[in-house]
Amino acid sequence: MTTNFSSKYSANAEGMKASEIRELLKLTSKPGMISLAGGLPDPAMFPVDVIRELAVDVINNHSASALQYGSTEGVPALREIIAKKFHDNKVGPEQIFMSTGSQEGLDILGKVFIDPGDKIVVSAPTYLGAITAFKAYRAKFVTIEADDYGMNIEILEERLRAIYAKGDVVKFVYTIPNFHNPNGSTMSLKRRKKIVKLAEEYDLLIVEDDPYAQLRYTGEQLPRLHDLIPERTIYMSTFSKIMAPAMRLGWNVVPEEIYSKMIICKQSIDLCSSPLNQYLALKYLEGGHLEPHIERIRKVYGNKRKVMLESIEEYFPMGSHWTKPEGGMFLWATLDHRINTRKMFPRALENNVAYVIGGAFYPNGGGENTMRLNFSFSAPEIVREGIKRLGNVIEQELELMATPMPEWAELNFP
Ligand SMILES: Cc1ncc(COP(=O)(O)O)c(C=O)c1O
Repeated sequence: MTTNFSSKYSANAEGMKASEIRELLKLTSKPGMISLAGGLPDPAMFPVDVIRELAVDVINNHSASALQYGSTEGVPALREIIAKKFHDNKVGPEQIFMSTGSQEGLDILGKVFIDPGDKIVVSAPTYLGAITAFKAYRAKFVTIEADDYGMNIEILEERLRAIYAKGDVVKFVYTIPNFHNPNGSTMSLKRRKKIVKLAEEYDLLIVEDDPYAQLRYTGEQLPRLHDLIPERTIYMSTFSKIMAPAMRLGWNVVPEEIYSKMIICKQSIDLCSSPLNQYLALKYLEGGHLEPHIERIRKVYGNKRKVMLESIEEYFPMGSHWTKPEGGMFLWATLDHRINTRKMFPRALENNVAYVIGGAFYPNGGGENTMRLNFSFSAPEIVREGIKRLGNVIEQELELMATPMPEWAELNFP
């Protein structure tokens, strides 16, 4: 007898769909392809020698703890040094818990806060991994248009007013204030302050996802939302971009009242994040390896960013707009309104260049003429060539649109 497994799915699993983007990205692995699509750090930048040295030290000197189960909160010494290095001891280690990447932190948020149909506020576009994490708990997305300076606060205020006037509430506001994934924007100080005011007015919980904080190449560092309103903010960051993604190690700074609830949820997911990796991260920070590494990546990625911006300026046709990110790994391009980047994608693949279709980052639809471009992964000359090819693809698309349809094309064929 065959079993009908799908009839056994939970309602949550029923709603989970394979990511279209992952399927499309599979097409980008053919030889000769330049992919500006991935969201990966440059593997040439991994601190390989340092990690090798630290691994030997951890195994030789800390194996009893590093290879054992650990506490759900994380290794105390690591939480202490994170509080000191990243938060100037303005938060204590008892407010921090480690997660298996920030991605697990997002899942925990869903588990703790979202019942089916609950409203959460996100920018449009927003991080795809957050969309999938919150969708899994059947959240309703309230999308706030974003521009070069982050989410539009006037629109946020309007939407909140309308929602609360109906007696409804939002569970949290999810933001990526620095070097946004996907749109590369940095939220202005004025908007940060305004979000803080709205948080007080509407009793909001803010989620500040900040994986790229240390990857600033230009401009002034701005205060975190967590600095401005710690009692209402959950702050998340990660070792993925400042050490290696395979660490699968993030940290979460959480208001006291919700800390234990989040820990209970994490416990049922994975008991603890890898103690081995936590010891590696601890030694990395203790040994002073973070600072020179960040200096190196800033230099290298900063140059790739510059090359991408210069190449776009040179090769993209009139009518294109793009963000000028002050940091991070991504730039966001908005093309002529007639272009649909989803429809254009096969032409890009034919021309051996790939991007991420912007629409994928809009949970409620939109962004048809947008795309995300990654500048951290490829070598500068490859970034340049990729943009040149993409410029060509966009030109071809525009030319095709400008070409009048032949008469026969207007006949109605059966
Ligand atoms: C905005 C944002 N949040 C979270 C993550 C997930 O990070 P992690 O590798 O720590 O799971 C990413 C990864 O790219 C990201 O861009």
